[in-house]
Amino acid sequence: MDTFHLLDHDRVVFFTGAGISAESGVPTYRGSGGIWSQYRWQEVACEAAFRIDPDAVLRFHEKRRALVAACPPNPAHCHIASWQQRHAGITVITQNTDGLHQRAGSTDVIELHGSLWRLRCREHGPMADVSSDGAYRQTQCPACNARLRPDITWFDDAVDVAVFHAASQAIAAADLFVAVGTSAAVWPAAGLIDEAAHRGISTVEINPQETGASAAFGSHLRGLASVMVPRCFPLDNS
Ligand code: OAD
Repeated sequence: MDTFHLLDHDRVVFFTGAGISAESGVPTYRGSGGIWSQYRWQEVACEAAFRIDPDAVLRFHEKRRALVAACPPNPAHCHIASWQQRHAGITVITQNTDGLHQRAGSTDVIELHGSLWRLRCREHGPMADVSSDGAYRQTQCPACNARLRPDITWFDDAVDVAVFHAASQAIAAADLFVAVGTSAAVWPAAGLIDEAAHRGISTVEINPQETGASAAFGSHLRGLASVMVPRCFPLDNS
């Protein structure tokens, strides 16, 4: 079993996808039982759907929020957060919108696809909207009364340029890149794996299955995130 000594690296990026939250009880998107096998994204996860039936789109996201609120961070999230507390050079870039990295204690998480816990006004930008039961607290912008939408990067949205730039910058400075639980099926996020690979730095894929991006990685840890992350990046550096 490969072991990586994070104190030997100046800058480390953990790039995470839905698989890191699977053992917390949050379903992944693809594969059997995945969110996109139960819902058509064309009806719940695009601006076009929000224009046609905003209530249906909000209900979908409220259901997701209620589910995620009941799911605790697992040892993979917690281990990465522990590493961040003892190593200033660790950056978390996530495609997840569930906020579990932050609940585990991670800071400065780069959220490529937004957050279930924020709403967004086209004029006035993102705003927090946290609730314990999942229901949105407000549906109109307090500044201009416009209807608010979830601050999620939907299928017909572009990834926020500043957020993507921050992710690219973190990878440009990294000497170790670790992808955890992503199918690498969604772009431009998946392109960040190529950015790391092209730099020639150490790259590690943690995933029980091979993915379309597996060939880009130098090392493959085939197993569950909650097992592999603590085992392969031991805190005592031994
Ligand atoms: P996917 O659902 O596409 O892929 C999840 C990956 O996690 C798969 O490769 C699984 O093999 C792996 N996996 C499952 N259980 C795991 C475990 N316990 N430990 C480690 N890996 C595990 O999710 P993403 O790649 O994150 O976009 O999907 C990317 C984007 O597509 C998401 O951000 C979402 C979706 O549409 C938005 O919400 C905007």
